[in-house]
Amino acid sequence: MSADKISSRVTAYACGKYRFYTVSGDRSKWLVGGVPEASEEYIREAAGADSIVLLTSRPEFSESLSEVLKVNPGIRVYASAAGLRNIKEILNTDGINERLIKDGAEEDGIRFIVTPGLCWMDSVMALTDGVLFSGEMFSGFDGSAAGLKRYYEENLAVNSGFVRAALGKLRGTEIKTVCPAYGLTCPQGSVCLSAEPDELAAKYREWSEPHRSERKRAAVIYASRYGYTRSMAEYAAELLSIGFDVDLLDARRTERSGLAAAAERADVLLIGTDTVNRNAPREIWETVTSLDTVNKRGMRCLVFGSYGWAGEGIKLIDSVLSSMGMRRAAKPVEALLKPSEKDLERLKKAVEAFLKE
Ligand SMILES: Cc1cc2nc3c(=O)[nH]c(=O)nc-3n(C[C@H](O)[C@H](O)[C@H](O)COP(=O)(O)O)c2cc1C
Repeated sequence: MSADKISSRVTAYACGKYRFYTVSGDRSKWLVGGVPEASEEYIREAAGADSIVLLTSRPEFSESLSEVLKVNPGIRVYASAAGLRNIKEILNTDGINERLIKDGAEEDGIRFIVTPGLCWMDSVMALTDGVLFSGEMFSGFDGSAAGLKRYYEENLAVNSGFVRAALGKLRGTEIKTVCPAYGLTCPQGSVCLSAEPDELAAKYREWSEPHRSERKRAAVIYASRYGYTRSMAEYAAELLSIGFDVDLLDARRTERSGLAAAAERADVLLIGTDTVNRNAPREIWETVTSLDTVNKRGMRCLVFGSYGWAGEGIKLIDSVLSSMGMRRAAKPVEALLKPSEKDLERLKKAVEAFLKE
């Protein structure tokens, strides 16, 4: 038994590291949240509930609904429009007693707040009695801020704009207790996160703050066997330094995390790649696949490199960056073997496109 009384109306339960809650509404009984594997306790509470609120359709929080429906097929299922659509696709059924959550709507003493992007686009929160069911926001607390931060980094940081929007929406709301969807037992022995709500919001504000710097940053990341692509990278970096703080990184000599961090910090990204066996080297692919395609969408980029016969690696990387939604500043600059004065002149022209902006 893992129940913990949060208020006269709200009880919290642990199911592994996941949390679910029951609410005694003005007229009926509610279950809030889903878990990856429904425990006996979860099923028992679901069997006696009139309604269930799914704060997101993310499978670890919604698949347990199929078990709930076995014991309580008529239960009212509350979720956002996108949430209901996804839940029906996850359960592969239209046979749910669905109820659409609208922003600000109140039902049986529970207020719903539509807060998309945390981290799926269908996420919502619910509030009753000063108790906030925050879903994935504020999740991961393990008695220290480290667990909270880890959960944020792994799940929500990618949508920092949505996090800020949610914080804005909650401003002015009186919150006595935050009840997240996931998190370890807190030090007070309660299964619910009972760290100060204001403290949590302050931490989230700090983490989701957009990175600002006086000067813009450029990342020039390259791979080069014989030094030809390197010489292009060094030249581009030197030109860029007039208007940018530049990170010039040899992909083969830099940790993957260092490459990803430089690309993450950058306002513009230049990738220099040689071509080996009709492909770009692994380190360049690793850099490209670690790009944050949500927040970096639209970032200006340029691909360049030395090649021996067709330069397939350069073309592949250029086309993948475009498919990811990056905006190329110019066509790729390719140099046949050792870059000539003319090649460097073409590179200069392409780099000037960044400087002009
Ligand atoms: C093992 C090997 C495979 C190569 N395969 C290709 C290839 O498929 N297509 C191509 O255009 N160049 C190919 N090249 C040529 C290199 O891309 C070329 O030598 C280039 O100048 C290397 O630039 P770097 O000094 O920056 O490494 C290959 C070179 C080596 C050593």
